[in-house]
Amino acid sequence: MSKKPYYITTPIYYPSGDPHIGHCYTTVACDSIARYRRMQGYDVMFLTGTDEHGLKIEQKAAAAGITPKEYVDGIVAKFKTLWSYMNISYDRYIRTTDDYHVESVQKIFKALYDKGHIYKGKYSGKYCTPCESFWTESQLDENGCCPECHRPVVFAEEEAYFFKMSPFADRIEKLLTETDYLQPKTRAVELVNNFIKPGLEDLCVSRTSFTWGIPVTFDPGHVVYVWIDALSNYITALGYLNDAYSDFDKYWPADVHMVAKDIMRFHAIIWPAMLMALDIPLPKHLAVHGWITFNGEKMSKSLGNVVDPFVLGERYGCDAIRYHILREMALGADSSFSNEIMINRINSDLANGFGNLVSRTVAMADKYFGGTLPQEREADALDDELKTAVLDAFAAVEKAMDETKLKNALEEIFKAVDRANKYIDQTEPWKLGKDESKKPRLASVLYNLLDTIRIISALLSPFMPSTMPKVWEQIGASEDDVKYDKLNTFGVLPLNVTVHKGDILFPRIDIEKEIEELNSIIQKNMEAAQAKLSGEKSPEPGKSEEDTPLLPEITIDDFAKIDIRVAKVLSAEKVKKSDKLLCLQLDDGMGGRQVVSGIAQYYAPEDLIGKKLQLIANLKPVKLRGVESFGMICAADTPDGVKVIFVDDSIPAGSKIR
Ligand code: MSP
Repeated sequence: MSKKPYYITTPIYYPSGDPHIGHCYTTVACDSIARYRRMQGYDVMFLTGTDEHGLKIEQKAAAAGITPKEYVDGIVAKFKTLWSYMNISYDRYIRTTDDYHVESVQKIFKALYDKGHIYKGKYSGKYCTPCESFWTESQLDENGCCPECHRPVVFAEEEAYFFKMSPFADRIEKLLTETDYLQPKTRAVELVNNFIKPGLEDLCVSRTSFTWGIPVTFDPGHVVYVWIDALSNYITALGYLNDAYSDFDKYWPADVHMVAKDIMRFHAIIWPAMLMALDIPLPKHLAVHGWITFNGEKMSKSLGNVVDPFVLGERYGCDAIRYHILREMALGADSSFSNEIMINRINSDLANGFGNLVSRTVAMADKYFGGTLPQEREADALDDELKTAVLDAFAAVEKAMDETKLKNALEEIFKAVDRANKYIDQTEPWKLGKDESKKPRLASVLYNLLDTIRIISALLSPFMPSTMPKVWEQIGASEDDVKYDKLNTFGVLPLNVTVHKGDILFPRIDIEKEIEELNSIIQKNMEAAQAKLSGEKSPEPGKSEEDTPLLPEITIDDFAKIDIRVAKVLSAEKVKKSDKLLCLQLDDGMGGRQVVSGIAQYYAPEDLIGKKLQLIANLKPVKLRGVESFGMICAADTPDGVKVIFVDDSIPAGSKIR
């Protein structure tokens, strides 16, 4: 019988900087699911890759004095090294610079155009004639001039192609609200309210102001802009409209696309719209997870708190890192990475919990029976309790995996680990070992433990694939004994199984020493980043409340003149040549606006994206360092610096604050 196909994808990563532990989460999660499905007997296609076009890459390459392709080749090599280091079993790696992808994207673009889904329109902004480049307001230099050549810019419009979104709005709303396409479902409501209800805007899908992109075949000078190129990877990698592969009919529609929350909108709205326009069936599930933060803060290169997976892997092994990140993150929520939590988790679950269970059991089989269990047995009611707990774990893992809840799956497995360790305490095999007449009972106890370890280790193998084969070697399990269809049955190991003592699976970590060393690595990175960030020192450090006298009284009518609104940060970037200013693009519920704010020393741009804040919306516009600001965001002066006043995400952008 032919195996059932199963297709799972990660996002394709931007190779604009070195990969970090945040990038590992989705890839390790998808790898665990792919391995689990293979174990279940599916014919799995697990796709990952890199998203290599765009202005940012073009600029970085130019700064490095190399071609964009040379630039991305260098970083792609680092991603691939990391994936092999983390034991990622991808079946296919797509690079959007691969010829077959380029060919398919060109055909997709043309097909959408021919069907009337794409039309030519105008993209407007500030234009530098000598450089032939468009710039957004926030990219201009402090004098409002071109950031490249510093000559004046003019308002101009550029031809661009747009993808019509509105025809798909109703179907997408139904997809999000009436099906379980998006997991977790709570996110769907957010998308419908923020993007669909206010009316879907058409999407700009081509640019002429940079060249590092896929050329539009029928209109020279245009390159395909971002999402049509990036999202198409999920089908081009299967051979859609190209001859490089012929797996489309077999694997499409995808079983799971997994992404983090920042790119959920593109996968929940734009991707389904593109597929609908192309008359292609929609993927079955989109699983959205949160961010790995560092001690509660967004991981960011500019803050220096990015956690290097190679550093951790060298110290504790890649399986411990895989386990830790998967065990900490609940689907949909952020998870805070901290060295303390990681080391405690490795010590408690892996060294003391599972590792100890294996080493104690194998050591006792070796000590009391010379490694091979005898045939004579003596059962006890306690044994059934253990067996039930283990078989319950098998069923609970199956359910959790079907719901892409990897943390829950691991929790269930570790309940069985705890139950098995309790069984050792209850049966006291070391006492049985002292009495010759109790040897049949001792053999039963050790056999039950070994068979429990067989099931538990097989269930753990998709998550920790490097360690589990070592466990099978130690407990004397054959490849056949750990097959999926043998995991919901007890008593699979041969009665006279032979164990082999081996190395300690997860050595206990000296917590104080390690924390000190890891914290000093991070501290150094953060200091280096801080030094880079604050080239210019702030003349006005944040003041505490007590330092600031109350202003004179005003009436309610005075206050009513201030229009304060809730606004959502859509994008943020540092203002060129200023260490203090950030330029924010806001969704203010009124068509959007730009605000410049002096918070660059306290927030990295990416810390703000997606957050909601308070906006003084009717302040007279000003120019700060040549950049226009239409309003002001509310922030508090605290002894620790300036803190933006964020508001609850459930309050719609544009709501009036009174
Ligand atoms: N190129 C786009 C994706 C296109 S998919 C058709 C992109 N690339 S990215 O490299 O910037 O991000 C890739 C994924 O990594 C995103 O889902 C992003 O959220 C995720 N992560 C990056 N840092 C992360 C954490 N610290 N924690 C968890 N995931 C994070 O977006």
